[in-house]
Amino acid sequence: MGFHHIALATTDLAATHSFYTDAMGFDLAKAVVAPTDLPGSWAKHLFYDTGGDGMIAFWDLHDPRADGLDPRISEGLGLPVWVNHLAFAAADLEDLAARRERWLDRGIDVMEIDHGFCTSIYTTDPNGILVEWCTDTAPYTDADRRQALAVLLATEPPLEAPPVPVFHHGRHPITAGHTGAAPATVPAT
Ligand SMILES: [Fe+2]
Repeated sequence: MGFHHIALATTDLAATHSFYTDAMGFDLAKAVVAPTDLPGSWAKHLFYDTGGDGMIAFWDLHDPRADGLDPRISEGLGLPVWVNHLAFAAADLEDLAARRERWLDRGIDVMEIDHGFCTSIYTTDPNGILVEWCTDTAPYTDADRRQALAVLLATEPPLEAPPVPVFHHGRHPITAGHTGAAPATVPAT
C-alpha cells in the first residue's frame, strides 16, 4: 500500500510549484487555505498528484513560527543533503531516462547512480530537498531479505563498495523557478 501524501514546508511557493509541475510533471490537485492554531495566522496547503500511490503536499505558512524557516529537510538539520530525501518511483529504465531528459532540458543538473538493485537520478528542489526518481532493476529475493535481517542485527557489518555517480549537466540556462543542483555528495540509495 502506498502512502496518501507527504507534507513539507516551503519558503518559495512559486518556485516549488514550478519545479513540481514543470520539472516533475505533477498536477496541482487540491488546495486548502485555513487559519493555523495561532490567532491571526494562516496557511495554504497544496497537494500535487504524482501519478502514483502518494501525493506530495507543501505548506505555504503565513505564521510567525515559520519566520526564518530553513526548508531543507537534511542540510537544515546539519545532515548531508542525501540523508532525508524524497524518492519517487519511475516505471522502468526507459521512464527513468525520459525523466532525466526532462530535467536536463530544463537546465537542471542530474546525478545518476546504478545501485545494482535499482537505478536512480537525483537533483534538488527549490527548497534544497534532494529529489530522486528510482526504478527497480532486479527482483527482491529471499536472499535479499535474509541479508537485510543480518545487516539489521550486525554491529560491525561488512561494507559494500560506495556507489559510483554519473553527472549530467543541464542543457540550457536554468529555467526560472528551478534550482536543479545535482547533489555534491553521493546517496546510498
Ligand atoms: Fe533514495
